[in-house]
Amino acid sequence: MVYSAASACLWLALGSLAPAALARSVGPRDAVPAGYYAPSYYPAPHGGWVDSWRDAYDKAYALVSQMTLAEKVNITSGTGIYMGSHALTLPQGMVCVGNTGSVDRLGFPQLCLQDGALGVGSADNITAFPAGITTGATFDKALMYARAVAMGKEFRGKGTNIHLGPSVGPLGRKPLGGRNWEGFGSDPVLQAKAAALHIKGIQEQGIIATIKHLIGNEQEMFRMYHVFQEGYSANIDDRTLHEIYLWPFAEAVRAGVGAVMTAYNAVNGSACSQNSYLINGILKDELGFQGMVMSDWLSHISGVDSALAGLDLNMPGDTNIPLFGNSLWMYELSRSVLNGSVPVDRLNDMATRVVAAWYKLGQDKNHPRPNFSSHTRNREGALYPGAVFSPSGQVNWFVNVQEDHYLVARQVAQDAITLLKNNDSFLPLAASPLAGGKLSVFGTDAQVNDKGPNACMFRACNKGTLGMGWGSGVAEYPYMDDPISAIRRRVPDVEFYNTDSFPWFFGQPADDEVALVFLSSDAGENTFTVEGNHGDRDSSKLAAWHGGDKLVQEVAKRFRNVVVVVHTVGPLDLEQWIDLPSVKAVLFAHLPGQEAGESLTNVLFGDVSPSGHLPYSITRKASDLPDSIANLKGFTFGQVQDTYSEGLYIDYRYLNKHAIKPRFAFGHGLSYTTFSFTNASITAVTTPLSTTPPPPGAKPETVSSKYTTALPAASEAYEPSNFHKIWRYLYPWLSRKDADAAHAIGTSGSKPYPYPEGYTTVQRASAPPAGGAEGGNPALWDVAFEVSVKVTNTGKRPGKASAQLYVQFPEGIEYDTPVVQLRDFEKTQELQPGESETVRLVLTRKDVSVWDVVRQNWVVPKGKGGFKAWVGEASDKLFLACDTEEGKCEGGLTPPV
Ligand SMILES: *[C@@H]1O[C@H](CO)[C@@H](O)[C@H](O)[C@H]1NC(C)=O
Ligand SMILES: *[C@@H]1O[C@H](CO)[C@@H](O)[C@H](O)[C@H]1NC(C)=O
Ligand SMILES: *[C@@H]1O[C@H](CO)[C@@H](O)[C@H](O)[C@H]1NC(C)=O
Ligand SMILES: *[C@@H]1O[C@H](CO)[C@@H](O)[C@H](O)[C@H]1NC(C)=O
Ligand SMILES: *[C@@H]1O[C@H](CO)[C@@H](O)[C@H](O)[C@H]1NC(C)=O
Ligand SMILES: *[C@@H]1O[C@H](CO)[C@@H](O)[C@H](O)[C@H]1NC(C)=O
Ligand SMILES: *[C@@H]1O[C@H](CO)[C@@H](O)[C@H](O)[C@H]1NC(C)=O
Repeated sequence: MVYSAASACLWLALGSLAPAALARSVGPRDAVPAGYYAPSYYPAPHGGWVDSWRDAYDKAYALVSQMTLAEKVNITSGTGIYMGSHALTLPQGMVCVGNTGSVDRLGFPQLCLQDGALGVGSADNITAFPAGITTGATFDKALMYARAVAMGKEFRGKGTNIHLGPSVGPLGRKPLGGRNWEGFGSDPVLQAKAAALHIKGIQEQGIIATIKHLIGNEQEMFRMYHVFQEGYSANIDDRTLHEIYLWPFAEAVRAGVGAVMTAYNAVNGSACSQNSYLINGILKDELGFQGMVMSDWLSHISGVDSALAGLDLNMPGDTNIPLFGNSLWMYELSRSVLNGSVPVDRLNDMATRVVAAWYKLGQDKNHPRPNFSSHTRNREGALYPGAVFSPSGQVNWFVNVQEDHYLVARQVAQDAITLLKNNDSFLPLAASPLAGGKLSVFGTDAQVNDKGPNACMFRACNKGTLGMGWGSGVAEYPYMDDPISAIRRRVPDVEFYNTDSFPWFFGQPADDEVALVFLSSDAGENTFTVEGNHGDRDSSKLAAWHGGDKLVQEVAKRFRNVVVVVHTVGPLDLEQWIDLPSVKAVLFAHLPGQEAGESLTNVLFGDVSPSGHLPYSITRKASDLPDSIANLKGFTFGQVQDTYSEGLYIDYRYLNKHAIKPRFAFGHGLSYTTFSFTNASITAVTTPLSTTPPPPGAKPETVSSKYTTALPAASEAYEPSNFHKIWRYLYPWLSRKDADAAHAIGTSGSKPYPYPEGYTTVQRASAPPAGGAEGGNPALWDVAFEVSVKVTNTGKRPGKASAQLYVQFPEGIEYDTPVVQLRDFEKTQELQPGESETVRLVLTRKDVSVWDVVRQNWVVPKGKGGFKAWVGEASDKLFLACDTEEGKCEGGLTPPV
């Protein structure tokens, strides 16, 4: 969610409709297509049974057991959108994107939750890192981690507690989806490994990471519940959920992620913020998640039901019509506990999960307080802007947290640059012959927006160099190293045509003259519409923006040597010009963030070889993919239904199944040099590999079962008499009258709450068979096979190689399975000509399993022969295969793709 003055006005305008929005619950729902249903799953599993969290839970228990009802409630919710720190609580302002209540009496602070997935959002003196999609395109684990370490230091330096990233949902199912660029690419394994490394890097700095958005948020339009319409329903079958969309969440939980954010939309008809099967069943029981589950901004639509369904933190605190001091939790949650509807046991677990994550990340010791405001760039500002009448004070300290992080930002941007085509080895450009000749550059994307890189709020415009998409996932640029400046630093004679239409006055260039053409394609969050695109690329579709495809064709008519550079959120349709003989080379630079310039010239002029690989496929036509993913869901009355009828078959999984050759396949990326993959070997590590993982044992007792479950005294929620309340700020207290009335209902039990079907409060003694540890059954991560392969630079220039391992399941198994699936990848160091590196790739038990919907478990299927581990440099460039049964590897085979 994004908040801004503009959206605030919109929300204010809708304010009078608030009561209708409050009425929604898990009760009546729109019908979803036959066969899909949202099962009940109760109760919410207690956290605290995993060894690595035990210490944090013990400490949390010691703290939470001293808290009153109102205090526990206070820390499970934000204090309201635009509401910063309580002036009487903190000597300084803090206006983060989300701010929770505190328990000052016991030293538990207000927590600062801050966007964005590519840098500290809405703050100064930070680094605007390359976007997730760019990071994915590096296929480089070391860089994924290094970027996160740098970013985590910045979130800490600004005094935040919780980083609202990484994003792996959307996963990239729909090429036109608006927020795919915040994640790492259209493959569950690429997303999973990048997310796990991101979480590790962030959390090592003492910042809680948030994996989002659970789940099925694959398009922007119609995602939100509001007074006129329900959010769309993503209808996903169980196997597809496990093998594709949940996969990165599982790996994130295994990496110890402290927070999970639910999605705006529904799954199988039940809103994600109150979907008991998803939160209680899949996330907390099967994946053994120990941290806190938060709602996305203003997505919370029911009070009691969401608490029962496993939500732990209500953000930013308001109902979905914000700024009126209304909340579904805070004082209403106090009431729900006193009147007996929400068991005190559930509230204890909610509060314990929040406090445990805080202890787990060491935030009880020397954690800095926030020193910036997301609301203004000025030194002074409102301490709680949402209150309308707010005292002012210093809110920005301009702490510079950049250190030398531009270096890792530039490295990621550079190593992500993906060379799609390079006819006649046209690139790299030789700077010296060019020094005599002229270089002509076309396209507004080559130069920073002349009003400044941050001219449009939340980057909700596409003017000048495109370094990120738009919406809450952005950061403020401290500067933009734009391509044209970097090119001018290299080449003395540059003619720049800052236009997207070919200049009519243009003469005939000499035969050896070179033209660079810059194109872009943008997307973002549904909060803003940019050039007719409602977040998703519903208007531009897969065409370059501003007539860029025509510009390339015009330039290619005059010049014999054209290089196209593309800044894009995702795939484009290149067919109008990709085969033109004068289009010699095409580079996808993705979304480079602040370091767009030098990262590009280092590749263009051959200081380094390009080593990026496509994190998605580029088809020849949009309709090469099935309608369910090629097209966005349009408006319908009632709930929009987005049914995943293609199942497992997205991106290359679909194209391979139907033998459709894309223009450029997932994983494709050329270099200025060449590599050989030789001397491969495979070792069986876990032998024998049982069909299913050994069942988990009983769950150890948790601290959550030690709390008293007696109904608290009404006085624990009484509003204190001498407390100075801020208008519209959200508090956990009730009036004495209301608290007593609720307590009377709770003690009499006369008016029981209409609990959902299947509701119970009895905790399950053990995890499901697929569970048992963070991320699922721990045996799923046992290394089943290890593959090693020697990669040699056989060309004439230094370069980094990408080794990608794709698994092919045995023939004759009883499950329909994609032809090949990415399972691991490694990038070599920069290899000199003739130099080699031995790369190790692994297949875990999970990598060779399928999700069996009947057994509700991961099963290693048996067929004719073994699994094949294909190794190559792209999903359609597989050089050799290792057979798990024969225990040997062979080159020269015909790959299945
Ligand atoms: C969605 O419905 C399918 C049945 O088609 C079911 O197998 C699956 O578990 C449901 N998923 C969720 C999250 O409700
Ligand atoms: C709830 O949090 C607010 C903001 O930090 C604080 O002013 C208030 O005292 C807290 N209430 C309780 C019951 O601790
Ligand atoms: C801002 O954060 C820094 C740590 O990066 C901390 O040292 C400083 O005290 C904070 N500023 C304020 C005003 O709290
Ligand atoms: C208890 O309070 C909550 C919040 O206002 C309300 O939704 C629920 O219906 C109440 N339960 C009973 C039994 O009155
Ligand atoms: C960065 O911080 C300095 C003070 O250290 C301040 O003068 C400058 O304005 C800040 N930059 C931005 C973009 O706010
Ligand atoms: C590559 O260049 C050669 C001549 O230099 C030309 O014949 C061929 O058509 C070009 N191929 C592509 C795909 O542009
Ligand atoms: C081939 O790999 C094996 C181990 O996998 C190693 O012992 C051997 O030295 C390698 N040979 C070459 C030529 O690299």
